[in-house]
Amino acid sequence: MSLIPRTRGKRLLLVAAAIMAACAGVDALLIEPNWIEVVRSVEYLPMVRPGAPDLTLVHLSDIHIGSLGYRERRAIQIVDDARPDLIVVSGDLVRGGDHPRDLQEFLSSLRSRYGNFVVWGNHDYWDGVPGAWGPEVVRRAGFTLLTNSSRAITYPGGRIVIAGLDDPVTGHDNLRLAMSRVLRQDLCILVAHTPDIVSSLGNWDIDLVLAGHTHGGQVRLPLVGPLYIPYASREYLEGWFNVPPGARLHVSRGLGWSWLPVRFLCRPTIDVITLRAGQPPGQRVPKSIIGQS
Ligand SMILES: [Fe+2]
Repeated sequence: MSLIPRTRGKRLLLVAAAIMAACAGVDALLIEPNWIEVVRSVEYLPMVRPGAPDLTLVHLSDIHIGSLGYRERRAIQIVDDARPDLIVVSGDLVRGGDHPRDLQEFLSSLRSRYGNFVVWGNHDYWDGVPGAWGPEVVRRAGFTLLTNSSRAITYPGGRIVIAGLDDPVTGHDNLRLAMSRVLRQDLCILVAHTPDIVSSLGNWDIDLVLAGHTHGGQVRLPLVGPLYIPYASREYLEGWFNVPPGARLHVSRGLGWSWLPVRFLCRPTIDVITLRAGQPPGQRVPKSIIGQS
């Protein structure tokens, strides 16, 4: 039995399907993994005093540095152009774990006004990086590694504490420790690799949570949707979410890839977030104001 359709119409359909599949393959393998989307958003901070200057926060996640290629150099240029006040990398720095020089060169090319912060992700632990060369490379690159710890910065709008949770997938997270030096009146940004940690924030006074891990699904098929979403992260594929007890969650689609070098209908992203004092347009009642009791 021949696999080639007998009618001309069906043969044309087959050829069209083959061309579409070839185009999709080229897109997924060669184009999209390197085609960074800059996603810009504005997040209002009712607790910061009115008139405080905007802060530009660049959120990178799942950078999965295997080498310094076109995508990585383009990412450095995008971050540079954003002139960030803060840079946060929410885990999964490596892919394979044997490229310390490339990771150091990449991270050390990222510069911000107030500081660069990073937490570990599951791939970092699976590749043994935190127990080997990882901390030294991160430190040399000028990043502050947060492993269930926090660091405060002061800017004209007040004090911001960046609290970093160690990787939850491999069981290294300790929220109590991460939050132990955060004061109630601080603007608190919690950085964690996986977004599902928002289900256990308890009553900690956290304003923003930054996470990644999902890769946005990495491959999304029409009508089917994302092919792979890590366990427990399905609710938070990408973007902004309101989460209890009153925090805002931002999930990045990530810059790199893992397992397979593909992205389809799911471009890598660099998120440029403007943190702005005050209420979102249309809302009036402030939650609290820094410095007021
Ligand atoms: Fe990842």
